Amino acid sequence: MTTHHQSTRGKPRVALVTCAELADLEADDRLVIDPLAARGVVADAVVWDDPTVDWSRYDLAVLRSPWDYMSRRDEFVAWAQTVPALANPADVVRWNTDKRYLDELSAAGVPTVPTAWVAQGETWTAPADRGEYVIKPAVSAGSQDTGRYDLADPEHRDLAYAHVRRLGDAGRLTMVQPYLDAVDTAGETALLFLATPDGLRFSHAIRKGPMLTGPDLGTDGLYKAEEIRARDASADERAVAERTLAAVPGGSERLLYARVDLIPGADGAPVLVELELTEPSLFLGYADGAADRLAEAVLTRLSRPV
Ligand SMILES: Nc1ncnc2c1ncn2[C@@H]1O[C@H](COP(=O)(O)OP(=O)(O)O)[C@@H](O)[C@H]1O
Ligand SMILES: [Mg+2]
Repeated sequence: MTTHHQSTRGKPRVALVTCAELADLEADDRLVIDPLAARGVVADAVVWDDPTVDWSRYDLAVLRSPWDYMSRRDEFVAWAQTVPALANPADVVRWNTDKRYLDELSAAGVPTVPTAWVAQGETWTAPADRGEYVIKPAVSAGSQDTGRYDLADPEHRDLAYAHVRRLGDAGRLTMVQPYLDAVDTAGETALLFLATPDGLRFSHAIRKGPMLTGPDLGTDGLYKAEEIRARDASADERAVAERTLAAVPGGSERLLYARVDLIPGADGAPVLVELELTEPSLFLGYADGAADRLAEAVLTRLSRPV
């Protein structure tokens, strides 16, 4: 037996789940490895669709950067169900990987960005008001396949129709939303919540700059470059985030982490654009103690499996 096995035997083992293209994880996710080690937990980067992996070797598998599942979500959700201990749980992954959850949360009273849905084979008619609109798929991440269109501009109008058609032809459910132009000035606020023995607690927040400059022209790589800064969350933002988490099916106490993404709506009050319970970037490097809090959250989940 090697020294490595000796030193890790008996210690809890955690898989940090990624994709082949990011086999060594993102630098930000690697920040949790030392805090875990300091708490006696061994963490390995593991590729989700690597067929040689025995997931039963892990006391917990933590989804981090499996960002290549967008075109094969069914496979990803089916895989999630086979992992003995997954954070977040597989039913949450199924619910959260399709942005139709926005309608459910809206019905539960959460202020959400107004969304029209275009199913495969359905004909879309552009809104009459000629404002700016966002077109994106219901299953997506990293701002992929997402475009911004000024419907007063005939060229943009044509490109908007082409975008909806392209997504529909690919069998994808399409979302059309008014462009929340406050994102250009105020940015988007992401509120990060982590598990504690007393339930999910607010950890930190970041500001993400606006992502959309115009029509979808495709993206090289797994995600579009983001401009991130540390920021505080306002009382209003905290309240909307808490309401959002309270409406998660099955309760938020089961979650290891949650990210609530808000942009000011037409009246300036924060509205939900995305609830990320599957594989959110956690921006651990942007807040003191965040990596330690995630390590503590992992310990909480290890001692109280869901
Ligand atoms: N309705 C909208 N108004 C303004 N910006 C938007 C809107 N929808 C999306 N965006 C921009 O596009 C980015 C990606 O969209 P999002 O819905 O978060 O999908 P994902 O992150 O899953 O790709 C957001 O971070 C935001 O900058
Ligand atoms: Mg997003």
